[in-house]
Parts: sequence; structure tokens; C-alpha cells
Amino acid sequence: MAAYTFPSGFLWGCAAASYQIEGATSEDGRGESIWDRFCKRPGAVRHGQSGAMACDHYHRWREDLDLIRDLGFGAYRFSIAWPRIFPQGTGAPNERGIAFYDRLVDGMLERGIEPMCTLYHWDLPQALEDRGGWRVRETADAFARYAETMARRLGDRVAMWSTFNEMNCLIDLGYRDGIHAPGAREDRKTWRQVAHHVLLAHGLGVQALRAAAPRPVRAGLVHNPVVFQPFYENSGHIDFAREQFIHHNSWMMDPLVHGRYPEARWREAGADVPDVQDGDLATIAQRLDFWGLNFYGVSQVAHAQWGLRPWEKHHPRTGIGWAVTPDVLYWAVRTACETYNLPEVYITENGCAQPDDINADGRVEDYARIDYLTGALRGLHRAAAEGFPVKGYFVWSILDNFEWHQGYSQRFGITFVNYETQQRTPKASALWLREVMRNNGL
Ligand code: FCB
Repeated sequence: MAAYTFPSGFLWGCAAASYQIEGATSEDGRGESIWDRFCKRPGAVRHGQSGAMACDHYHRWREDLDLIRDLGFGAYRFSIAWPRIFPQGTGAPNERGIAFYDRLVDGMLERGIEPMCTLYHWDLPQALEDRGGWRVRETADAFARYAETMARRLGDRVAMWSTFNEMNCLIDLGYRDGIHAPGAREDRKTWRQVAHHVLLAHGLGVQALRAAAPRPVRAGLVHNPVVFQPFYENSGHIDFAREQFIHHNSWMMDPLVHGRYPEARWREAGADVPDVQDGDLATIAQRLDFWGLNFYGVSQVAHAQWGLRPWEKHHPRTGIGWAVTPDVLYWAVRTACETYNLPEVYITENGCAQPDDINADGRVEDYARIDYLTGALRGLHRAAAEGFPVKGYFVWSILDNFEWHQGYSQRFGITFVNYETQQRTPKASALWLREVMRNNGL
């Protein structure tokens, strides 16, 4: 028996997202997304790259699903490209776009892979951005329509749905820092308005999913709160880490869980608070069946006397420069569950980027990734063993893929992709994970 055995029924999955792997950006009537547009902006993406080809998954999906099955995954977290379904954001749905996801979902079920669908992994139809994007309330209504359409069409076969992937990132990186699409740098009030519309879209989306699906579905959200690691495991540091968690995450988490913005933060925001209509907060606070949590590393160390401390600069880092913090999943799950009493939790993304390459003998020996995953899974195991409601783990990612503004320079896959030939080669970490999954532990 494995030293770290996970609860029975634990769901092992892998994840990817539409724009990062599909390619075929102008096929079968797909409309333009904000990422297609953003990638054309000089200097926006490393080496001027884009997702136009990516992993060509749109054509190679059968092979990719075979790979997922052969590696032993029980579930696959994928996302739908909204512009394939509503090329102009609204109007009549594009049947050829829907047909692709129909085939993909059937393909998963035929192979015994459970689909977990994310509706919004950042590829907003450009047509909606042209009409104001997330700055305007109409985009939340358009999202509800899109959610309803997909639930009606796929809800007989897809049981697990998430509305958004990492709303923090799309709001902050996309509309404040300008480093993700649509590349906007809004003032504080507009940026908070964007956040409010995204929250509202989530709530409307959950309602639409439940109302339109032909069978009961499980609705959730994939979120990435910032998490802090207590300096030492005693109540002083743990309490301080939790206070910091609340301080940094309550603006989004309180409306989602409690149906209200945090009072103190609202006051601090002064005139920069968003316009909120009657009933919005009740809509936002839909009861969720599960929370997806994405974590790669803790953001800072929380020391009760010294305050928040950055990870020391010589701490090991992954290829993308993110600190390796092996206890991240433990503290993330524990803090989020203790603070917000979350019902069920799936780690919907975790993994690391490494400068992988194929050896002369055809192997990709990414032992550093195995090390990274070992630490992460031990932490997650501890959270499960202490009784936190951890139900599954999805590695990011099944394939090397288009890593947003970093282009193809960051390889997060457990499968190596040769972008010239589109050949896939499972890395050592994929074979290692297959063993872990076989044993339901490590
Ligand atoms: C997350 C994103 C995902 C991927 C990983 C590395 O923030 O959700 O698409 O880029 O980071």
C-alpha cells in the first residue's frame, strides 16, 4: 500500500484550456476572441506567438483523448471557446462549433473519461469586447445565454461545470495590468466594475446551467485565491496567515459565499466602488456544489511579528520563475475551507513549467517536475487525511501548450509537444503519475 493513500473515489484528472491547445482559430465559423486580437499587438506576447496553431487539438482530439485514457486519468477538465459557439458573442449559436464539443464529450465518455467543463477560460468573443467587454453589464447577460445554450446541449452528458477559470487573473491581468487580453489598464473604479460584472455573470451562469440542463448538473467555480504559508505551525502564525487570506481574498470570496462585499474593504475603496443593482449580490451568491482551486505556489510567508515576507530570492523556482513551495496545497485547502466552509474541493490546476527537451534516447526526463508534484500531492494528502473535503486533483497540463503572454516558452505539460511536428511524447512525470493513479497514492 502506498505511504500516502488518497480517499477511495478520489478523482484523478488532467486539465487544459481551449485557446491554449485547440488552434483552428478561424475554422467552422469560430469568431475572433480577445486573445486572437491581443496576440497581434506588437510586444504583447513573447516572440509574437499566438494560439492560431497551438497543439492543433481541434484536429488531434482523438489522439489526445486516447493519451488521457492510456495514462489512466479518470477525468479531463477542458474549456469551451465561447467564440466557437457565439462568434459575435450573442445571436444564433453556431452549430458547427457546438458539434466539436459534442464529439469531444462523446469521445471522453467512450473512453471512460469524465468531462469537467469550464465555460470561460479567458477567450471572450472580440465582438463583445468591442461593445465594452466586462466593463458593461450586457456581457454578463450574454454569458448567461451562452451557459444556458451549453447546458441544454451538453448537460445530458456533462455533469460537472465551472463558470469561470481564475476570475482574479482575467480581471487583474486583463483589465488592470494590461498583460493579458484585452490588454486594458483601467482606473480603479472601472476595474472594480469589471470584477462586479464577472461575479454577476458567474451567478447568472450558475442559474442558467441548473435551469437549462436536461439532467441535474453540479455547478462550481474555479478560483485562485492568494494563499499564505504560516512561518511556523502554531496558532499565532496560522491565525495571521488566515487574516491575510481574508484581507486579500474577501473582495471576491465574500460576495460569492456570503452575498455581500466586505464592509471594511468597501469603505476603503471610497468613490471607487462598483455600481451594484438590487438583487445582484443574491444572484452572485449561488450555492455551489463544488469549488475548483488552482494553486501553483504560496504567495508569501505569514509571520505573526514580521508581517508578510516574500519567499527568499534564492528559493528554488520553476521555469516560469514561480517559487516551489511544497506545502501549498495543504495550506490552500485548509485556509480556504476553514475560512469559507467550502462544500467540496477539487484541485483543478497544479503543476510546473520546466525547460524540458527530448533526450537522444527519445525520453523526456523531467524529474524536477516529479519532485514538484510529489511535494504538492503530499500536502494535498495531508489536507484530505485531516478531513478537509478534497475530492480530486487535476494536473496542469496534459500537454505543453500556449502559455498566454509567455507564448510557447513555458512547458507545463506532462506530455512534450514538438510544435513543428505536433508529435506528443509523454514525459517521465506522466508515467510516474500513471503509477500514482493506479495506486491511488504515492
Ligand atoms: C493558470 C491558468 C492556466 C495556465 C496556468 C499555468 O493561471 O489558469 O491557463 O496558464 O496558470
